[in-house]
Amino acid sequence: MENFAINSFTKKKFIIFGGGFSGRFIADEIRKLGCEVLTSSRQIQKSSTSFVFDSLSPVLPPEQIFDGTTHVLSCIPPNKRGEDPVLLRLHNKLKGLNLEWVGYLSTTGVYGNTFGEWVTEKDPANPLQDRSKRRLLCEKSWLDSSLPIQIFRLPGIYGPGRSTFESIFKKNIKIIHKPDQVFSRIHVADIANAILYLLLKINDKNFKQIINIADDYPTSQIEVIKHSYKLLGLKMPEPMHFDEAKTLLSPIALSFWEENRRVSNKLLCKDLGYKLIHKNYKSGLQSCLEIIKQK
Ligand SMILES: NC(=O)c1ccc[n+]([C@@H]2O[C@H](COP(=O)([O-])OP(=O)(O)OC[C@H]3O[C@@H](n4cnc5c(N)ncnc54)[C@H](OP(=O)(O)O)[C@@H]3O)[C@@H](O)[C@H]2O)c1
Repeated sequence: MENFAINSFTKKKFIIFGGGFSGRFIADEIRKLGCEVLTSSRQIQKSSTSFVFDSLSPVLPPEQIFDGTTHVLSCIPPNKRGEDPVLLRLHNKLKGLNLEWVGYLSTTGVYGNTFGEWVTEKDPANPLQDRSKRRLLCEKSWLDSSLPIQIFRLPGIYGPGRSTFESIFKKNIKIIHKPDQVFSRIHVADIANAILYLLLKINDKNFKQIINIADDYPTSQIEVIKHSYKLLGLKMPEPMHFDEAKTLLSPIALSFWEENRRVSNKLLCKDLGYKLIHKNYKSGLQSCLEIIKQK
């Protein structure tokens, strides 16, 4: 990030709802720019930058955490009724804050099954799974919230501590062959970096409200697993055919195999000029492995 970018962020205060895998990573990247960042968790944490927010609890976060907040990012999934947990409990509070920007992490599941075809933000949402229908309802709530919202549609997220390596180490990896099935993915470092890049452009006339953040190379899961074993110097076990694996998968795991799409990043990477840190899984996995080796 260039100096002018760093300077333009230093006086900002971010609240990130949902300090899980992505929320925590994004918070750390924003802190590197000198900003104050608070993250929520459903349980009390030791860190002084963490506060408690649980949409199912009647207790709301303490008033003072909102003082001076300029930016809000929500990384919390929809509730069972398709309501957004943050808007449900804090919509009025957020409206009173005079925020410069509000971000929302959504999923590319809202596009549904495209039978392997590419999808862009211009394609209509056509969710297949109930959870993706709920997600689309949340996107709509944010768009209707009268907050300065920007929505990021994400495919499978991986990164340090959450990659095929961990599944291999924990011996819970399922190696499944389903011809012509592809998945799109994104390294968490690119979610953070793309958001920061886009934040510098919020006043551009080319501002976009819904943006896919995906890498350049959708591919089969088995290709990624094969490469992971190769990087570890291990022999990959024989894959199972999908028809056989079907009986072993949980309903939620199975539902991911019912959708086959290639998520386009053309808007982000061509039209808006963002340069991916990890253009494909090979680069992303290599960086995950380097972090594992350092530990
Ligand atoms: N994982 C993927 O591959 C993927 C792909 C596309 C989109 N997404 C979406 O992108 C977002 C971030 O993903 P992630 O994998 O980084 O998420 P994650 O690690 O599962 O973290 C989710 C966060 O939401 C919080 N949360 C959940 N329910 C809540 C509630 N009722 N009230 C308050 N907080 C609640 C969790 O709190 P605790 O910290 O207390 O658990 C956690 O901090 C999510 O909306 C996810 O659905 C994920």
